Amino acid sequence: MDEIIKLFQKRRSCRKYKSLPIDSRILDEITEAGQYAPSGGNSKTARIIIFQNQNLIQELEKIAEDEFAAMESGPDTYKSLRTSIVKSKEGGYHFTYGAPVLILICNKKDYGNSMADCACIAENMMIAATAYQIGSCYVNQVHWLTESRAVRKFLKRTGFQEDEDVYCGIILGHPEEPEFFDKKRTLKKNTVVTV
Ligand SMILES: Cc1cc2nc3c(=O)[nH]c(=O)nc-3n(C[C@H](O)[C@H](O)[C@H](O)COP(=O)(O)O)c2cc1C
Repeated sequence: MDEIIKLFQKRRSCRKYKSLPIDSRILDEITEAGQYAPSGGNSKTARIIIFQNQNLIQELEKIAEDEFAAMESGPDTYKSLRTSIVKSKEGGYHFTYGAPVLILICNKKDYGNSMADCACIAENMMIAATAYQIGSCYVNQVHWLTESRAVRKFLKRTGFQEDEDVYCGIILGHPEEPEFFDKKRTLKKNTVVTV
């Protein structure tokens, strides 16, 4: 049990990766862990789309960059979205940080638990990745662009359906930093209230 708790403590967002693929058996274990996630009413309507083809990942990144570059941001824009817009206008925006694997989790548009179910899957996969010393990071850009016609046209090639939206994205890969998982984590104070 201690070992499982340690995985939660070790997981942290990785934004620098080696250009090494992930062993297919390990990737299968990670995506299987995602499928054991709970879902509202046991609906299990979420689908996991795995991209390992670098040309496809780069094509999607370019579409995202063009879409963000066409948007305006102001002081009220959510800060991470504003960063995507500003960086895209500058050019060379890479929201997948060179990771060898991008996973998008999609679900039905008209189902109230879509985001929650997808986030449960994403967390299961990130914890499973940690067990294999595989770095991960949640990436939200395709979710923000889920209404974009260009993004939806691209995703159609993966079997993405009109009645679906993208709710979560994660990236996976071997961390560039050798001691990546050894960092001591600290928790924010006053998050837990016991009554
Ligand atoms: C809903 C959600 C969206 C996120 N979107 C992004 C993102 O688009 N890009 C990114 O680099 N990190 C993203 N993150 C990662 C957070 O920045 C990160 O979890 C947070 O800074 C805490 O760091 P840690 O994951 O190392 O504990 C996201 C995390 C969550 C839960």
